[in-house]
Amino acid sequence: MYCTRKVTEDLTWVGADDRRLACFEGVYGVPDGVSYNSYLLQDEKTVLFDTVDKAVYQTFFENVKAALGGRKLDYLVIHHMEPDHAYTVEALLLRYPEVTIICNSKVEAMLGQFFDLDLAGRLQIVKEGDTFSSGRHTFTFVMAPMVHWPEVMMTYDTTDKILFTADAFGTFGALNGRIFADERDFMAEDLAEARRYYTNIVGKYGLQVQNALKKAAKLEISLVCPLHGPVWRKGFGAFLEKYQLWSTYTPEEKAVCIAYASVYGHTENAANILAAKLCEKGVHVTMFDTSVTPSSYIVSEAFRCSHLVLASTTYNAGIFVTMENLIHELVSHNLLNRHIAILENGSWAASSGKLMREALSALKGTEFIGENLSIKSALKEGQLAQLEALAEAIAAEING
Ligand code: FEO
Repeated sequence: MYCTRKVTEDLTWVGADDRRLACFEGVYGVPDGVSYNSYLLQDEKTVLFDTVDKAVYQTFFENVKAALGGRKLDYLVIHHMEPDHAYTVEALLLRYPEVTIICNSKVEAMLGQFFDLDLAGRLQIVKEGDTFSSGRHTFTFVMAPMVHWPEVMMTYDTTDKILFTADAFGTFGALNGRIFADERDFMAEDLAEARRYYTNIVGKYGLQVQNALKKAAKLEISLVCPLHGPVWRKGFGAFLEKYQLWSTYTPEEKAVCIAYASVYGHTENAANILAAKLCEKGVHVTMFDTSVTPSSYIVSEAFRCSHLVLASTTYNAGIFVTMENLIHELVSHNLLNRHIAILENGSWAASSGKLMREALSALKGTEFIGENLSIKSALKEGQLAQLEALAEAIAAEING
């Protein structure tokens, strides 16, 4: 049975939730699920905006059929070719052989890469600023390359002031029936997963997100329809402000994110003492064991905080594997302009601090706080002064 909801009088959400997916893109845990959004417009012509992942194809096709109400499908607009949205394009074309695909030339190329389809005469290629009318509605197309793949574009409905934003403004988390952001306290309940989605999926492409935001700023927008997460019809400004911060690598809070990798607890002990000292000085601290918390959560928190403390034991003459993974993720996601302190541990030939510092030096705007603090097996009384000095230095930066 279909499960749809009206977005406007003539626009219907025909997407679906996926609560059985363990890892989005095979790497980002989604304990609260994820939604794949698709929208069906009933105008003089019928227009479907994107398809869905194969995991929910059955519900999706029931939804499309119900929303069409017996009409044929005239157009499919493809904003993004990543298979969480485009996997079911081929199946859609088989079910609706008269549909014309509206897309840009980069999407056309990817259609050829993902599928073996004869699309001759079935494509309407558009570029920046082109318009298309479905009857009452007129659309313009806004290219948004690298938000999150090179072919990504957005569509603006000039009639009802709706912006279809592809991955932008998406969130992790199933919709659970609540398709509008104002049907829950999004900023309290969903912001953390929205941040984790943004930072891990498009965090690397802040400059390109900024370019897209500048284009969107010229539009009068009443509804924002992303490909994941809820539709925005009110209160969007607060979420947009977060996007401005995230895409410019501006911290949301002057605070410290401590992440440590500790095999037998000695490095953790040093991190705990530092955390306590920071808290005594009025600094907000969050703390993660890299062997327990997946990197996507720590990357997200690192985007939120102004300061990072990374503490790792030395392992196989290198950085402990879970910390090495975290640093790889921080560098891959291009986290800029953070102030970072480093602690290392090693019972002999400690090298993790030097290696962490070298890896993080690749990030523009990184400022290291003092020298690496080095522990030999376990923190000793004589080193408490060094931890105190580090806490003082960090607190001075944060508290001014
Ligand atoms: Fe939701 Fe980049 O796909």
